[in-house]
Amino acid sequence: MDLIQELETLEREGREAVGTVRDADALEALRVRLLGRKEGRLTAILRQLAQLPPEQKPVIGAAANRVKDALTELLETRAAELEAESGGAAAGLDLTLPGRTAWRGARHPVTLVVDEITAVFRSLGFTRARGPEAETDWYNFVSLNTPLDHPAADAADTFYLSPGVLLRSHTSPVQIRTMQAFQPPIRVLIPGMVYRRDPFDASHAPGFEQIEGLAVDEGITFADLKATLAEFARRLFGPAAKVRFRPSFFPFTEPSAEVDVTCFLCGAKGCSACKGTGWMEIMGAGMVDPAVFEAVGYDPERWTGWAFGMGPGRIALLRYGIPDIRLLYESDTRFLQQFA
Ligand code: PHE
Repeated sequence: MDLIQELETLEREGREAVGTVRDADALEALRVRLLGRKEGRLTAILRQLAQLPPEQKPVIGAAANRVKDALTELLETRAAELEAESGGAAAGLDLTLPGRTAWRGARHPVTLVVDEITAVFRSLGFTRARGPEAETDWYNFVSLNTPLDHPAADAADTFYLSPGVLLRSHTSPVQIRTMQAFQPPIRVLIPGMVYRRDPFDASHAPGFEQIEGLAVDEGITFADLKATLAEFARRLFGPAAKVRFRPSFFPFTEPSAEVDVTCFLCGAKGCSACKGTGWMEIMGAGMVDPAVFEAVGYDPERWTGWAFGMGPGRIALLRYGIPDIRLLYESDTRFLQQFA
């Protein structure tokens, strides 16, 4: 019998056999008998191909492929029929169940505020930097003109991981890391988590987000700081927003200021959020102390600069009227979905 005939016989017998199969196991056994790689009948035929003269090989090969495709399709069709007859996967389905609603994600309210603030400063020419949350006491305090006997460095206020190593209590150490890595001019915005040993209550959390800003160049003055923060307030809170500076103290800035913005809830008329004053305190700021420049090897005679630090979490609480800071940490989707 020539091979073409054998192939035709295989296809015919295969077709008949498929029709008589009653379950999936028998169907699989049949597939192996017909098309199985090692012992299948098609394989047996193809083995004989080797002995044929070269001009016949492609003809028989093509015929073999056609038979293989035809049988494969028959087997698959029969498999689908058997599945449907038995009820198949559909047997376990309850079509009366309500559908699942898609779960829509939402950005966290603090992330919303951080992203907005970052966008404002990006448009003012600031790049963004990050630094480690586990810091040495040199980066967190000493380089920032804060001796280790300062109360802020006390273990009662700062989380120490081991002697000399701590969870940073502000983002200011990234000022130092940025200045060590780059030469002026510098304009950088530094968002990140900071940690303090505060009790967890309605208005305090032991870990929270901060955003640090730093500008260093030749001839930078306090007027640049005021103009930049005034523009920032207008872009974040609207064209009528104003800022005011009150004298303050930070070891790493001189002079230093607390910066207030006109209350963005009542439009400075006076409300409970601003305690009737029309102003909200939003950040600390000041001119970089020359001692800080010396710590990073910058010449304080040549360079001047300013820095600020603010808490976007506090701004989020005020802006969205969130009554308790703990809501920001509980991952309660009923709360978070409101920001979707
Ligand atoms: N690091 C200060 C704080 O955490 C904020 C600050 C940053 C003040 C930069 C002045 C300049 O309170």
